[in-house]
Amino acid sequence: MSIKPDIKPVNPSFSSGPCAKRPKWNPDFLKDAFLGRSHRAGQGKKLLKQVIEDHRRILKIPDDYKIGIVPASDTGAIEMAMWSMLGARGIEALAWESFGTGWQKDIIDHLKIEDVDLFCANYGDIADLSKVNSDRDIIFTWNGTTSGVCVPNGEWIKSNRKGLTFCDATSAVFAYDLPWDKLDVTTWSWQKVIGGEAAHGMLVLSPRAIERLESYKPDRPLPKIFRMVKNGKFDESIFEGLTINTPSMMCVADILDSLKWVESIGGLYATIKRCRENLSVIEDWVEKTDWVDFLARSEDIRSRTSVCLKITDSWFEKLGDKQMDFVQALCKLLENENAAYDIKSYRDAPAGLRIWTGATIEKSDLEILTKWLDWGYEKAKKNFS
Ligand SMILES: Cc1ncc(COP(=O)(O)O)c(C=O)c1O
Repeated sequence: MSIKPDIKPVNPSFSSGPCAKRPKWNPDFLKDAFLGRSHRAGQGKKLLKQVIEDHRRILKIPDDYKIGIVPASDTGAIEMAMWSMLGARGIEALAWESFGTGWQKDIIDHLKIEDVDLFCANYGDIADLSKVNSDRDIIFTWNGTTSGVCVPNGEWIKSNRKGLTFCDATSAVFAYDLPWDKLDVTTWSWQKVIGGEAAHGMLVLSPRAIERLESYKPDRPLPKIFRMVKNGKFDESIFEGLTINTPSMMCVADILDSLKWVESIGGLYATIKRCRENLSVIEDWVEKTDWVDFLARSEDIRSRTSVCLKITDSWFEKLGDKQMDFVQALCKLLENENAAYDIKSYRDAPAGLRIWTGATIEKSDLEILTKWLDWGYEKAKKNFS
């Protein structure tokens, strides 16, 4: 029997979104936030522009790409792009977990686009990327947060493609060195790898994406919060800090604090390294633990942020439709001990665990967590039997 650990993670928040705040985060950092003032006042615009330029510098986004802050988090950003740009040519819609499947459904059921090839894979697997035709538009998720499966790289996307790529990168940005030359539309939210707040989305557009916006007018109404074109011309102002509607300047102060933290630890390569090292803690533990394995079928597609694990114990397999009840009991036990919050697998995914290992998570906390998992699994199994 494993011994009950006598130490707890300093921060037991391992949720896959909103994700843990950065180490040593404290609301005092927000005392200088530009609150109760118009975001269109000089200082408001300056702060919004700073969010854009900090992202450009840290993520090495090319100068000719446009970066915007848009409403409704990652969903808002990707929906805005889909509704504004899809339909000009055929689409390759890729999905290997819940979010990609959602974008596929939107394209078919709501945008009602007919020329769509669906590439689907079950949880743990990935679509056959070698069959994807880059001369059509491609929509995909860089890292599937609910399955812990990511694309191995961007090499399957042609450099001289005719279509546009739409990449939902919400749990990938700051964790991977994204190949911007392969990405035409990239979206994410603030609350993931660097621990910002929810509500705002980031939308990055390549020059070819802007060309599409100016040359293609979809035959459907677009709500105001999706509109990026004014009198047939791309609306630059949105991408210079003049947001379409009112942003939260509290969230702006918070994301600027996260970005400052990223630079203080060494920038993009430091956040990537932290994610990699965090994953390796889980890898070492899985290696020596006989009841657990990665949901991702191979190492090259294994996420370094949303690590999804399956329970391989034959006892668990025999639980059948009671598996999720057991996972819930295990997670409740760890939550009650303040050892781990929110590590239950996503509701549509196979019953198991999902542990966030993004850049704000401390390696030492994951090491402690694995000890709680050893103890918790045995204890929960005993209670459940
Ligand atoms: C891959 C992916 N896409 C989209 C979303 C939705 O993001 P949001 O809730 O920020 O709109 C999430 C949220 O976890 C996600 O992981």
